[in-house]
Amino acid sequence: MKQDIVILAAGKGSRMKSALSKVLHPIGGLSMVHHVLTTASQLDKANLHLIVGHQGEQVVTHCQDFSANIVWQDNPQGTGDALRRVASDLSKEGRTLTLYGDVPLIKKSTLEKMQLAADENTLVLLTAFLDNPTGYGRIVRDLAEEVKAIVEHKDATPEQHQIKEVNTGILLTPNKHLIGWLDRLTNDNAQGEYYLTDIISMASADGLKIVTVHPESIAEVTGVNDRLQLSWLEREYQQSQAQRLMSEGLTLLDPARFDLRGSLEVGVDCSIDINCIIEGKVTLGNGVRIGPNCHLKNCHIGNNCDIKDNTLIEDSALESGCDVGPFARLRPGTQLGANAKIGNFVETKKALIGTGSKVSHLSYIGDTTMGEEVNVGAGTITCNYDGVNKFQTSIGDRVFVGSNSSLVAPVTIAAGATIAAGSTITKTVEKDQLAFARARQNNKDNWPRPVKKS
Ligand code: UD1
Ligand code: CA
Repeated sequence: MKQDIVILAAGKGSRMKSALSKVLHPIGGLSMVHHVLTTASQLDKANLHLIVGHQGEQVVTHCQDFSANIVWQDNPQGTGDALRRVASDLSKEGRTLTLYGDVPLIKKSTLEKMQLAADENTLVLLTAFLDNPTGYGRIVRDLAEEVKAIVEHKDATPEQHQIKEVNTGILLTPNKHLIGWLDRLTNDNAQGEYYLTDIISMASADGLKIVTVHPESIAEVTGVNDRLQLSWLEREYQQSQAQRLMSEGLTLLDPARFDLRGSLEVGVDCSIDINCIIEGKVTLGNGVRIGPNCHLKNCHIGNNCDIKDNTLIEDSALESGCDVGPFARLRPGTQLGANAKIGNFVETKKALIGTGSKVSHLSYIGDTTMGEEVNVGAGTITCNYDGVNKFQTSIGDRVFVGSNSSLVAPVTIAAGATIAAGSTITKTVEKDQLAFARARQNNKDNWPRPVKKS
């Protein structure tokens, strides 16, 4: 059956108190509406419609990649009004699934369960049971337990307020009936809005079957109105990701202190210590250890690498057996060959570091190609920038750079060369040469120290 999916995202979101549209606030690093669109696109024969209004330009720009049909709902007058604006774009046969841009964690499996229950004379409602149903529309059933209507909280009688079964808002309706029902909606209610929920009593009167389906968890149907709810859903989301990764064989020292904002693929026997942030697309080989407080963004970490505490790695690739940190910063374009070592307080950028090479302490290596088995002493700086242009440094295999040296780019140090400690290198050093580039030491005998006048 053909399926239209309508995502409502026109609401104001005033309780967020934000210049950013509510549906663009992130959960797990991706906007709420992105989560909904992704889930919706995974359903069969999905034809996506996105209803925008308040801060709609932002939403439209953000959602371009999903090629949804954008429908503007200026001056929004309720959920029924939102559906009416898209009615002429819905297929005449088929069915419509209504989702919400601020209900981000709805699961594909739950929606598929709804689809299984649907046909052209059945309306499927996703309902939940809440201890505190205040604010929600209530599911009104007759003595035979058949659904008869949904009554909004503000319109409900004291008796109806006792009902614990609530409308999540998510529903699946056959289009051949829906379009006529939408025509008949009125705004004669407590909020003066066109309620989508009023179609339930029409469906019941028309003799349609009304089936209810329930979500696996309340998080799936929880909407975000303020930043407190946003943070609660964020924790729910992180917990479920942590559980999934642990079931795939990852050790998390504390799943409550782990944040994945993107995708993580892991080999066997990897472990991640507390307070790490994994962002973008990250892959770990086998036996990788990530220490506490690390931030990895868009990178590949090869087999058996050891990433020690407080290390930041971004847009970089590490071959197997590397040893990085503590307190290292690998900036975009860093590539480490097998068994390379980057120690504490070392920053790299656009740097190719060859197999077995070591930069162990307090250095900056940028715009550099480094061969194998190089040893870079503490405090070495590649001077790659003249204030306008960037220049390359090239370091051959087995070079030894003495501590506290400045390599002023563009410069080449050929294989096997040795740089004396404290040198400022401005010219090519040929293969196997020793380069001294520092002032000679001058010692004076019996030097009379200055004395204070009494
Ligand atoms: C709605 C349901 C209620 C249900 C609850 C679940 C109706 C009439 N009521 O109530 O039964 O228990 O959701 O959370 O449907 N929106 C638009 N355009 C509009 C109005 C709303 O796009 O004109 C969007 C909002 O941005 C929001 C969603 O629809 O994302 C729900 O609207 P809201 O007014 O919050 O509905 P509730 O009063 O919570
Ligand atoms: Ca409302």
